[in-house]
Amino acid sequence: MNYNKKTVRDVDVRGKKVLLRCDFNVPLDKETGAITSDKRIVASLPTIQYLLENGARVVACSHLGKPKGTVKPELSLAPVAKRLSELLGKPVAFTQADVAGEESKKLADSLRDGEILLLENLRFDPGEEKNDTEFAKKLASFGEIFVSDAFGTVHRAHASTEGVSHDLPGYAGFLIEKELSVMGGALDEPKRPFVAVLGGAKVSDKIGVISNLIEKADTIIVGGGMAYTFLKAEGKEVGKSLLEADKVELARGLMKKALDNDVMFLLPVDIVVADHFAADAEKMTVDTEEIPADWMGMDIGFETVELFKAAILKAGTVVWNGPMGVFEFPAFADGTKAVAQAMADSEAVTIVGGGDSAAAVEQMGFANKMTHISTGGGASLEFLEGKELPGIACLQDK
Ligand code: 3PG
Repeated sequence: MNYNKKTVRDVDVRGKKVLLRCDFNVPLDKETGAITSDKRIVASLPTIQYLLENGARVVACSHLGKPKGTVKPELSLAPVAKRLSELLGKPVAFTQADVAGEESKKLADSLRDGEILLLENLRFDPGEEKNDTEFAKKLASFGEIFVSDAFGTVHRAHASTEGVSHDLPGYAGFLIEKELSVMGGALDEPKRPFVAVLGGAKVSDKIGVISNLIEKADTIIVGGGMAYTFLKAEGKEVGKSLLEADKVELARGLMKKALDNDVMFLLPVDIVVADHFAADAEKMTVDTEEIPADWMGMDIGFETVELFKAAILKAGTVVWNGPMGVFEFPAFADGTKAVAQAMADSEAVTIVGGGDSAAAVEQMGFANKMTHISTGGGASLEFLEGKELPGIACLQDK
């Protein structure tokens, strides 16, 4: 995939109506509906501020949650418009429940240079997720150019992420520019050794990533719940640990592919096991040869931490996706924390794929020690799989 895309710096935006796709899919409090983290709104500020300061008329848009094509008042972007206005220190025009309707169109047409309107939740309209041509054309009529800064949704071919690019020239915002240069750079021309640390519960979620990275990395480290399927493929007994029995053959094949490609493939050598799945379960550390039949693996052990740490500290580039254990339970968070610590201590280019590992790094206080934490969950996974992402492919090449 070509990561070299035109950005907002490559176009004169003064006086132009800019349709700006953001990812304002923020977490909401289930009871009060209040925004519980404004991180995604804050992350979009550099592009919005740049556009406003350079005299653009900004029509921002986003989805929120999964209303499935119907108006769900609890998923209105009204609280986002309010928070965005506070952060920008200027009004953000907004028309409740009117996605790309007449009221919004009127407001968009009356915008002056340096003013901003936020459209209502795009997924209130069934045309958004269907990438319906009519809906895409309607949205495109709000702008003269299209700027995408919603990295979290570039793996979706929806009307606002891909459809509008058929009618408007597409440019990357600063968030997407950074994701492409750091993650794209790591995949194309990594500083070596290139170490990929992969965890999470299921092998099936990570097959694509492992296959792609085996062709690029020097070392693959596998931890987390999916490690047990690989250990089983090595002939070990894993007790009551997570096991995808139907993926054992595939795991064996991936390890063989690593061997054929001269890629070091590191699995845990010791494991913290628990007598049942609970935060306060009884625990002990055992060799991976000796996992008791009634116990389950919950974290990597101390020797494994040392093994993984040594590889991370020698790396030129480290990409991490997926926790090493059940880090939501403090008693089983040490392995994930140690990997985050090793990445923080290393001189390497350190990249954290979105989702759980990004949450872990933030929760553990290492966020500002990483070169880059991706803002995409599913999107960063598909990026690491080497897939063509429709929301990026549709932007203009440099
Ligand atoms: C995300 O939260 O990962 C993005 O906003 C995409 O959301 P989606 O999975 O609902 O498309």
